[in-house]
Amino acid sequence: MAKSVIYLLMAVVLSAASGCATAPKSGKGFTLPEGDPQAGKANFVSFYCNACHRIDGIDQVSSDGEKPELSVALGGEVTRIETYGELVTSIINPSHRLAKDYPVEEVSYDGESKMVNYNDVMTVTELTDLVAFLQSKYKLFEYELTEYPQYWP
Ligand code: HEC
Repeated sequence: MAKSVIYLLMAVVLSAASGCATAPKSGKGFTLPEGDPQAGKANFVSFYCNACHRIDGIDQVSSDGEKPELSVALGGEVTRIETYGELVTSIINPSHRLAKDYPVEEVSYDGESKMVNYNDVMTVTELTDLVAFLQSKYKLFEYELTEYPQYWP
């Protein structure tokens, strides 16, 4: 085999191998401890998450007793449960991916989420408890499979 072909093969193998390396900013290996859903429910109220969110079992509040300005739904029946990582990211970096099903101008200003930033006031335990509470509020929506008539060629 010609030397140049061997070099080419080596280059392909090496580049494929380096492609598998985990990027330094990857979330791989990131896990937070299990939270307590009951404590999370209390945190949801004490952090006034219910000023902007409606969720089953907790009343929404507003500063003036009128209809709350924002009412982004959390929990409920979904076709895919939000993962732990997605929920944590939604809380500590809300603008990373804006909630779908809402017009952008309703939930953000200039592409930045209207959600309050809690990163300097919330402890890790409060965060993990909140996520455990939120996850317990999502239910998988069981959709009916379409029945296809039998087909005889
Ligand atoms: C000032 C209003 C406001 C407050 C207070 C607020 N949020 Fe939000 N939140 C939003 C808005 C607006 C969105 C939708 C835009 C986005 O995805 O960031 C959102 C999105 C979310 C999402 C993602 C929903 C989805 O379907 O993707 C989660 C989870 C969430 N908030 C949790 C919380 C929790 C927990 C608290 C309390 C610690 C809280 N929020 C407090 C306004 C708020």
